[in-house]
Amino acid sequence: MQELYPLFKQIHVGAVLASGGFFLLRGLLMMQESPLLGSKFFRIVPHVIDTVLLLAAIVLLVFIGALPAWVQVKIAALFVYIFLGVLAFRLAKGYGTKVFCFFLALGVFAFIMSVAITKNPAGFLRAFL
Ligand code: HEM
Repeated sequence: MQELYPLFKQIHVGAVLASGGFFLLRGLLMMQESPLLGSKFFRIVPHVIDTVLLLAAIVLLVFIGALPAWVQVKIAALFVYIFLGVLAFRLAKGYGTKVFCFFLALGVFAFIMSVAITKNPAGFLRAFL
């Protein structure tokens, strides 16, 4: 079974890149106030990708059989990222607030990436500690 770990890691990382790409694209559409953002495609596909991302992450955790600190930080930061995304694309009222939440979410996404790559709970924030 353990030989399947690299496959699920590839699926996870592939979904991470697709998820980030879609988030960026949706942000650009939001900033242009494009009606495309409300299309079926952009309402469904990102959710499918994010589901694959999370399912692969859960499989990886089952393989690892532990919840190291860096993964705990990733999970917590993921909630912040999702919340900021909901604000940017749905709940926030003014244009400026939406754009601000979007860029904040991009920063959190970059932080999660840095935590994953360094396997350090502080990620790139280590430079400031
Ligand atoms: C509940 C959420 C998540 C969990 C439990 C999780 C868990 C994991 C695990 C167990 C690995 C494998 C580490 C290894 O064997 O090297 C991994 C790798 C990775 N994850 Fe996640 N992940 C989650 C969400 C995310 C998100 C949202 C992102 C991006 C923003 C992300 C980016 C990455 C990257 C880039 C790697 C590859 C790191 C490397 O080896 O260089 N993950 N993740």
